[in-house]
Amino acid sequence: MRNARLHVLLLALAATVMVPALAAAAVPENPTFHKDIEPILQRSCQVCHRPDNMAPMSLMSYQEARPWARSIKNKVEAREMPPWHIDPKVGVQGFKNDRSLSNDEVATIARWVDTGAPRGNQEDAPAPVEFQEFGAWTIDPDVIVSSPPHTVPAEAGDWWGDYIVPTSISTDRYIQAIQTKAGDLRVVHHALTYAVTDPESPLNDSSSDAFLNEYAVGKNADVYPDGTGRLLEADARVRFSFHYHSVGEEVTDQTELGLVLYPEGFEPDHILYSRQLGRVTGELDIPAGQVTRHDGYTKMYLPGKLTGFQPHMHFLGTRQCLELIYPTGSTEMINCANFDFNWHIVYNYENDNQPVYPAGTTLHVISYHDNTEANRGNHDAKNWTGGGSRTVDEMAFGWISWFDLSEDEYKAELEARKAKTDNE
Ligand code: HEC
Repeated sequence: MRNARLHVLLLALAATVMVPALAAAAVPENPTFHKDIEPILQRSCQVCHRPDNMAPMSLMSYQEARPWARSIKNKVEAREMPPWHIDPKVGVQGFKNDRSLSNDEVATIARWVDTGAPRGNQEDAPAPVEFQEFGAWTIDPDVIVSSPPHTVPAEAGDWWGDYIVPTSISTDRYIQAIQTKAGDLRVVHHALTYAVTDPESPLNDSSSDAFLNEYAVGKNADVYPDGTGRLLEADARVRFSFHYHSVGEEVTDQTELGLVLYPEGFEPDHILYSRQLGRVTGELDIPAGQVTRHDGYTKMYLPGKLTGFQPHMHFLGTRQCLELIYPTGSTEMINCANFDFNWHIVYNYENDNQPVYPAGTTLHVISYHDNTEANRGNHDAKNWTGGGSRTVDEMAFGWISWFDLSEDEYKAELEARKAKTDNE
């Protein structure tokens, strides 16, 4: 019995690794479910759209997907599904955990739906993907911090809120790996964790927090490269920031944050920081009936490497861009992402694509808020809106993750990248 279970688990892991990367084929003339659509669902949808997971319906088979065909077409054409809002036409591309669809894949789905969503031949079906059990640690944590039990009623509006929990760690320690494990995958729409370092910090003010980790479906632990760590200050508390949603039955969730720590007294060569940068100085001014733009700037005094970008606004936020202003005055647009308050997505660059910048570079964060009737997230388009920490107030900054480089490391990095481009 035990061996059989182990066998299943190993198969499951193998299958996870072998999710087929879709060949960048053009759009087939007569797409069928098994041949053309199922591989797309496996790679980009089923991680959430399967039983007992966050999405409202399963898309694991033809029978399950067929009734949703029209809705699937609408959602993928609107780029609302899968949830991934980076603008593919601007700046740096190549992110970890990127499940977004290519234009050809969207067109394939559209044509499949328009031609009656045929099933095709069972023989064309890809092998089913066995997804890893999420409720499992992929690291072996030294310390686990739990959020307090939170009961999500059977039926209620969505709940956004924070809990702040002490850790038992009383000296400065560096984190080597970190994972957030949702208690019940059905109700946790997102969970973000932060280190609260200001002991006076009120529950609703995260401005001096350091970002720790994001729980996202299908994402395993963040394991930092050797010699890289995140600082957890002595006696820091952990802020859990949740979005819970109801699923038709009462569920109590308790989410855990697991930490693998470097030994006491060890200081890594590179410290990974994540902070609110490019904050707008002064008031946000978002008049009723208008789309506004606000600009925030943060100067980086050391050379460095960006590892992640996560736009942060509230209901009215629709788009945010991150630009670098180099000491020479030249500028480079790094990324633009559409924004939907329902999804707090951290865009982590693939290691080879992490943008590198010299000392004296200014990070420029550009935020757009839509306070018109056209914005579906807008609850009252007749009111002026300003900054603040309630969800009905607005915010505008990026959670930016980076580490500093020495001048020598910066030069070496530039050389290495130049050599790589010259060889291409
Ligand atoms: C990260 C998890 C996740 C991924 C990946 C994902 N979805 Fe979803 N999907 C959801 C959630 C959650 C909802 C419920 C609405 C919401 O929260 O936005 C949803 C809603 C939908 C809906 C609307 C259902 C309704 O009630 O009208 C469709 C259609 C859909 N998804 C299709 C897809 C397709 C097709 C893909 C892949 C190309 C995909 N989704 C990928 C999580 C996901």
